[in-house]
Amino acid sequence: MSLVASAPALAAEPSREASQERIVGGTPTTAPWPAQGYLRSPEGICGATLVSGLHLLTAAHCVTDRNGAVIDPGSLSVILGHSDLLRAGPGDVYAIAPGGVTRHAGFGIINRGMTNDLALLRLDRPAPFEPLRLIAPSETALWAPGTIATVLGWGRTCSQTCPTVTHLRQAGVPIVADGTCGGRYAPVPGSFDAATMLCAGSGESDTCQGDSGGPLMVPRVDAFVLAGVTSWGLGCADPRYPGVYARLGARALNDWVRARIPTAAISVTPRAPDPGTDVLLTATRAHPAGQTPTFLWDLDDDGQYDDAGGATATLRGISAGSHVVRVEETYADGDRALAREVVTTAGSPPPPPPPPPPPPPRPEPPPPPDQNDTHQEAGRQDPIQDAPPPPAGERLTVSPPLAGLVTAPKRLRLRSLLDRRFTVRIRCAAACAVQARLVLDARSARRAGLTRRVGVSTTIGRGSDLRTRATSFNLTITLTPRAVKALRRLPRATLRLRISASGGTRDAALQRSISYLR
Ligand code: ARG
Repeated sequence: MSLVASAPALAAEPSREASQERIVGGTPTTAPWPAQGYLRSPEGICGATLVSGLHLLTAAHCVTDRNGAVIDPGSLSVILGHSDLLRAGPGDVYAIAPGGVTRHAGFGIINRGMTNDLALLRLDRPAPFEPLRLIAPSETALWAPGTIATVLGWGRTCSQTCPTVTHLRQAGVPIVADGTCGGRYAPVPGSFDAATMLCAGSGESDTCQGDSGGPLMVPRVDAFVLAGVTSWGLGCADPRYPGVYARLGARALNDWVRARIPTAAISVTPRAPDPGTDVLLTATRAHPAGQTPTFLWDLDDDGQYDDAGGATATLRGISAGSHVVRVEETYADGDRALAREVVTTAGSPPPPPPPPPPPPPRPEPPPPPDQNDTHQEAGRQDPIQDAPPPPAGERLTVSPPLAGLVTAPKRLRLRSLLDRRFTVRIRCAAACAVQARLVLDARSARRAGLTRRVGVSTTIGRGSDLRTRATSFNLTITLTPRAVKALRRLPRATLRLRISASGGTRDAALQRSISYLR
């Protein structure tokens, strides 16, 4: 049986490389998901969800290094405000405040399952995006089995062999009953625990490596609420094994989050007012330190909190139909909580539900022509734009975005490989997303017992990174534990380092052979 990704994207094992190649259904997002964050750490990439002005919720394993320690906040950062990561500029990168990583104390790995897989990140400055509302423990009906939840991420589009992506994807995944999920994971005793985990997914759609920490959202009235955090699974979109999420509807996990971030809600009196009558709106608040916020209301759904102040507001002579109201609660430390409610008058039809999750994937359209540089279109004032344009017609070269690409070593000492990770120096002449794979030739892979198939090379390590400006940096390639074990038994082998990168609408690829010595 193959592994679960117990660590972020880089640490996946290749054991099903050849046999398991299901794509993870889904489509690139078109609508913006303002709360979606991209978490970068030395250990890999993850998702994270903005849950207050200053806080993101992610998975505990996303902030855990390979020794099990909490990763230093200084080496983590979050990108917010972009589905297309290559459009992000330096101003879109948020640092984590000193001491700003809080991992759930009960986080643990039990036979491949991860329990209490939650962590909070506190940003060094407030993010101006609408946080996603956390589910309430009473709202169990919203995530009943069979509900189609929506998941988001920049993770792999298939188990093991596919790379992560630079454009955010979304998919609809059915919530799976606890009993069913427990039965599915019965071959891995103790891995699934319904007290802290929730299952969703099918043989068509699932999250995958790199999506961890991101949201599982369920529809409520005309919007989404956060019901789970992507955590683990055996393979991806394997019909036998659903994806597993931290169960935010569980009272204990829900309380853990609410004790650490400010939250807001709106109560409506009466709940179903008659047209023409007044409606009283009351903002409720909760702050970890009991602070008092300033309240501002958006009563006309224009997105501006400029219609009223104070903990209560009145909608006068409400017209028939549905009305979206919002309150913003701002605290002295810059944090803020938002609440949103829909007031529907008696006898009116309820507002339409949020847009359904995307249909099953279709083949992707070819990339746009080269000269149509997306960064130019965006008209942003950031260093991305300052990079010199590449010569006309250039593709698949190591010039922009990867000028003078790699200074990877020609030979590696086996010892350095057996450390599980090594770095290659990359220079990008513009913003770039880089993916690297270390591939073991087919013959060696068989000899090492990594595959039984003839003529199939095996990926034994990966690394990926994203830079929002022209820069040089060290890309870390992490080898799978299985590969390290196997390499110990191989006197020599030929490894290929395959690096591909994209920046703007361009791609570059490079391949280099590495032989290693004992
Ligand atoms: N642990 C993975 C990560 O770090 C997420 C795996 C989700 N797997 C699944 N089959 N749903 O990104």
